[in-house]
Amino acid sequence: FDYNLLTGLHVVVTAGPTREAIDPVRYITNQSSGKMGYAIAEAAAEAGARVTLISGPVNLPTPTRVKRIDVVRAEDMYNASMAVVDEGCDVFIATAAVADYRPSVTAEHKIKKSTEEIHLTLVKNPDIVAAVSAHAKRPFTVGFAAETRDVVAYAQAKLDNKKLDMIATNDVSGENVGFNSDNNALTVIWPGGHKVLPLAAKRQIAKQLIELIAIRHKRD
Ligand code: PMT
Repeated sequence: FDYNLLTGLHVVVTAGPTREAIDPVRYITNQSSGKMGYAIAEAAAEAGARVTLISGPVNLPTPTRVKRIDVVRAEDMYNASMAVVDEGCDVFIATAAVADYRPSVTAEHKIKKSTEEIHLTLVKNPDIVAAVSAHAKRPFTVGFAAETRDVVAYAQAKLDNKKLDMIATNDVSGENVGFNSDNNALTVIWPGGHKVLPLAAKRQIAKQLIELIAIRHKRD
């Protein structure tokens, strides 16, 4: 691992889940632990980058020499991301499992138990990584794709639709990879090429991903 791969670059990483409130005590979220994103932030810092980590609610220590910004909702993560991209950054890595939808309203008071059925209306959240890649000061933009089937085909579609420079895709249908696990396996895809990173510790996978990003970023 080259400890100068990203020297002089500002790398932004999103990590963890977002939390979308239903009422003051209830929310919608997902299984993301933040481990993958934190490992990437750590690897980027070890590679010499200045690193900003935009993190949803997780139980992990902040890696050394990493600036961490805590957020809760997808809209907060969107605003924090836009603020750092507005200021200027070189690489943006979207590892966070952002909630695609949020409750259309957050009840001011705890919702009382009443009828047999109640309905929750959800509205779409802004797509953070798509907004980053469409930004006037567009950084080298890397997305993730969490899929349970047709992993590579769906990831390829996300690479194209969100106009990304690279996408790292993981199969999250198994127990030993993806969400929450200490291990992961990725297929990394970019326009014109791909590389399989076989099952390994997330810290190891993170270093390999950083190496790929450094090579592709230099070339673009
Ligand atoms: O946190 P861990 O427990 O370590 O688990 C790691 C992980 C499985 C969460 C991670 O490896 C991963 O796959 N992250 C992406 C999860 C995800 O939400 O994937 P997606 O296919 O739904 O989203 C595609 C891409 O768009 C992602 O880069 C995501 O960050 C981004 N996105 C999605 C929705 C949204 N509103 N804004 C976004 O930026």
